[in-house]
Amino acid sequence: MSNQIARSADRLKVDVYVDEHGMLESMPEEVRIGLTASPKRLAPKYFYDEAGSLLFEKITELPEYYPTRAERDLLHDISAELMADLRPQQIVELGSGSSYKTRQLLSAPSAPEHLETYVPFDVSESIVQEASEELVSEYPYLSVHGVIGDFGRHLGHIPAATGRRLVLFLGGTIGNLDPIERVAFLRQVSELLGPEDRLLIGMDLVKDISTIEAAYNDSAGVTAAFNRNMLHFLNRSLSGDFNPEAFEHRCFFNQAESRIEMHLVPKTPQIVTLADLDMSVTFTPEDSLWTECSYKFTEESLTEMLADSGLSLEHFYTNDDPARLFGLALVGPID
Ligand code: SAH
Ligand code: AVI
Repeated sequence: MSNQIARSADRLKVDVYVDEHGMLESMPEEVRIGLTASPKRLAPKYFYDEAGSLLFEKITELPEYYPTRAERDLLHDISAELMADLRPQQIVELGSGSSYKTRQLLSAPSAPEHLETYVPFDVSESIVQEASEELVSEYPYLSVHGVIGDFGRHLGHIPAATGRRLVLFLGGTIGNLDPIERVAFLRQVSELLGPEDRLLIGMDLVKDISTIEAAYNDSAGVTAAFNRNMLHFLNRSLSGDFNPEAFEHRCFFNQAESRIEMHLVPKTPQIVTLADLDMSVTFTPEDSLWTECSYKFTEESLTEMLADSGLSLEHFYTNDDPARLFGLALVGPID
């Protein structure tokens, strides 16, 4: 092992709170409840095994999927000033995935002067391991302390900071939580923030329906494969016998609720067994599986969410050219 690799390895640590199959201890109970509910519904965290994380990375490169590019451009524009102003000692990123866009912040000119630790926090182990190894080698000044777990349950395992903390929740993942869940979640996140700490939340914005719907019905069928991947994940984790190809990807913008809805609808009735749960479930075209919501925000809905969460808005950044595609809200605790 070369010295450089040894030094990189010394700066890398990952704590894991999922089992060897990537399964959270809460999965059996949550799946049982979700598949006996009406409508049948599972949380989007069950997209993200190794294959699901790779499919999401492919989504971010699709011509129709604008959010990743729009957020990357925004971060590119604001990172140097944001980092120089806040001078965080620790960056925690919830749902960090590949940490691709985070590099804009880690590369800010001031970062080596004040930033010591980056904490990628994600339910998907493989992508965090890979990203963390890349980051310690790309940024010789940085230590990476990954946490593999559920941000709904394991926030208490985030390592303590010895200075200012910046928490990131990028990508629009806030929109994958429903209004009640996201307020409860943000209240928990606010407990990670001292008076000088800040949270940067990325959110997709309301815009013309055709642009939004195209991003979730791409012509290459990658989003459909991502959606069906939840069934592969269930098969592997709970000894299931779903035939994923028997389910159609259905995705549309629900304007009244300001959200994309993603469903898996069987073409014909399917009886599926999950042996580990000792459970059989019937899916029909009328009684299908709802896999994801992706809420789109306005400044009004952002303001309402923050007020309900005990957070105050310091700055709202958006792309203006050619359109208000995506938003980044810099928020802090209410003093
Ligand atoms: N922030 C990245 C990735 C967004 S994809 C980006 O902007 O491109 C959503 C990420 O959140 C995935 O990596 C997924 O594994 C993670 N995730 C989803 N639900 C989660 C949960 N409950 N706990 C922890 N991570 C979760
Ligand atoms: C991670 N999240 C913000 C994505 C979204 O757009 O809601 C997940 C996704 N689902 C389908 N395509 C992308």
